[in-house]
Amino acid sequence: NWKMDTFVENSIREIRAKVGKGKVLCALSGGVDSSVAAVMLSKAIGSQLTCVFVDHGLLRKNEGDEVEAVFGPEGPYDLNFIRVNAQERFYDRLAGIEEPEEKRKIIGEEFIRVFEEEAKKIGAVDFLVQGTIYPDVVESGLGGESAVIKSHHNVGGLPDYVDFKEIIEPLRDLFKDEVRKAGLEMGIPEKLVFRQPFPGPGLGIRIIGEITAEKVKIVQDADAIYREEMDAAGMKATVGQYFAALTNMRSVGVMGDERTYDYAVALRAVNTIDFMTAEAAEVPYAVLNKVMSRIINEVRGVNRVMYDLTSKPPGTIEFE
Ligand code: XMP
Repeated sequence: NWKMDTFVENSIREIRAKVGKGKVLCALSGGVDSSVAAVMLSKAIGSQLTCVFVDHGLLRKNEGDEVEAVFGPEGPYDLNFIRVNAQERFYDRLAGIEEPEEKRKIIGEEFIRVFEEEAKKIGAVDFLVQGTIYPDVVESGLGGESAVIKSHHNVGGLPDYVDFKEIIEPLRDLFKDEVRKAGLEMGIPEKLVFRQPFPGPGLGIRIIGEITAEKVKIVQDADAIYREEMDAAGMKATVGQYFAALTNMRSVGVMGDERTYDYAVALRAVNTIDFMTAEAAEVPYAVLNKVMSRIINEVRGVNRVMYDLTSKPPGTIEFE
């Protein structure tokens, strides 16, 4: 049970000793793990670090710009930041694909391809950073539940495709709460450190059926409203994870005097300790009602909003 300030100091010292004057490359997702890893590297070796952030067009509303604000040239950290706007490529590859595992596979592969292209532009690097944390090591190594049920987007894959000598995994021994502590210790904003989990394949697995730019926009807008109202109602402190998903179901409704035939949005909110099991959270009806009314009024293409009551198991937390 060592102290986090010592851990951070030691890690930074070890990274400096290991890297020397070498060049380091990091795939930054904006999630907690890769962000904490990137900041640690930046503190240790500054602009010897290059972070590549791939915007696959499946991020939450404004998320790409938020990541850029923190890690880009206007942000507080000393590093090279490359943002790749690859939305079109991903939408093209995903056109017509409905099966969830196939979507995950395509998103994962395309992600590697984009990353690899950027890595080639940078040239040979000495080290590749991975934000692997202890539970990832256990899950992928021993075939934990998620590894079996779904292909894992974040572990493995990258190293084979990039010309590098060695891998650096500064968070490999840490549990999630320890990663957050390390993040706070290094002065990373709480908003980022206490971010909810967001899957690597992003909104691609929160849209049932075919992914289109139109559907992405719908789920982004609905999700932004949901999170805004949940945060305003103080639910952030009590509910583990919440998000909107777009079902592939369209049904008849009325708007004014017009008949509509639009999509149904599903709201998900779960309480969980380890994300292996979960229960639907008891979100106050008034909050749900306000979210419903705002989504219907503000998001075109939606005429029904539903709340998902399913626990895990038999459901999963994600809605894919
Ligand atoms: P499920 O849907 O399997 O989700 O009950 C459990 C937790 O894992 C997150 N999740 C992912 N995280 N890459 C990630 O980094 C993924 O591919 C992925 N799939 C699910 C999910 O958000 C939940 O917190």
